[in-house]
Amino acid sequence: MKPIPVNKPKLDGNESKYLMEAMESGWISSEGPFVGQFEEQCALRHDRKHAIAVSSGTAALHCAVNALDLSPEDEVIVPSFTIISCVTPIIENGGVPILVDCDSRTFNSTPEQIISAITAKTKAIILVHIYGLPVDADPVLEIARERGIKVIEDAAEAIGLDYKDRPCGSLGDISAFSFYPNKHITTGEGGMVLTDDDKIAELCQGSRNLCFQESKRFYHERIGWNFRMTNIQAAIGLAQLEKLDGTIARKREIGLKYKELLKDCPFLQLPVPETSYAKNVYWVYPVVLHDSCTMNATEAMIRLEERQIGTRPFFYPMHKQPVFNQLGLFENDSHHNAERIAERGFYIPAGLGITDNEIHRVADTLLEMFKH
Ligand SMILES: Cc1ncc(COP(=O)(O)O)c(C=O)c1O
Repeated sequence: MKPIPVNKPKLDGNESKYLMEAMESGWISSEGPFVGQFEEQCALRHDRKHAIAVSSGTAALHCAVNALDLSPEDEVIVPSFTIISCVTPIIENGGVPILVDCDSRTFNSTPEQIISAITAKTKAIILVHIYGLPVDADPVLEIARERGIKVIEDAAEAIGLDYKDRPCGSLGDISAFSFYPNKHITTGEGGMVLTDDDKIAELCQGSRNLCFQESKRFYHERIGWNFRMTNIQAAIGLAQLEKLDGTIARKREIGLKYKELLKDCPFLQLPVPETSYAKNVYWVYPVVLHDSCTMNATEAMIRLEERQIGTRPFFYPMHKQPVFNQLGLFENDSHHNAERIAERGFYIPAGLGITDNEIHRVADTLLEMFKH
């Protein structure tokens, strides 16, 4: 039986054409023209003034948090149910991460959870859109505006997704994208920072490029990194961006097919198809085993792997990470929903490269495994 990977990207547009153009021109570094074109098109699509291409989504978050100029007491609110890339930049930039729980059905932190964590020391909030639905951002944006709190939007998983009638990536003061191969746009590895703020853009442009100075190149007034995106990556990214609407349509189709096929499965909580503020784009197809199911997610994933079906576990909550606990962080935190879904959730193959036959095989296998 042919294995079905959890994700397979699709590179069937202008990717090879632009890539060859980059190769033949000799411009393979970050100095090549595709980088600027990719930035310009990303900014345009998201109605933002600036787009700064970087080497990963993690790098984008580092640039974004670094641009806040955190002081030691400054608190930054961030979900516990996310990737570590959201929390490490806060610590490395000297701030205090404050974790909040998430909703067990949308997997996103709710406005209530976020707003109740705001204190006089809150400097910023990182809104992380998880698994295909956005955070209900407006109530948070409103309070943040009133209190002068900056909002960073982690839209790594939400490229092409709309919140109400606005694109994710256009909501925060700063937003971050990832272009890893399981994202809606891939460059192999890569990321982007978006903002309307000239000063923030300048800081991010500096930090991705070692904070070289134009007038005195090897003289540095800030710490920076080499987070540059190459022209080769940007060539692929530009071609991927051209196909974004088709990508989103197909992701929705995959999600809705699974919804139909799995709807009678007694032990699986399926993703929410839509809320009052968004339609699920099914970045991944996450399932959570009901408490009545005797199998946990690890056992289910092993059984699926035995049947040649790829899976991934859910995020492991940030407050349970040994690396942070060893630093004395989050030891008294408890975020029940994040803990429960991490234990009982996993996601199944739903990348762009999946065929309808493969979707049926995955669904049939799950139905067989989780019979009454
Ligand atoms: C929500 C979120 N933020 C950030 C990242 C990090 O992106 P990258 O892998 O490009 O560093 C990811 C990666 O999957 C993610 O899911």
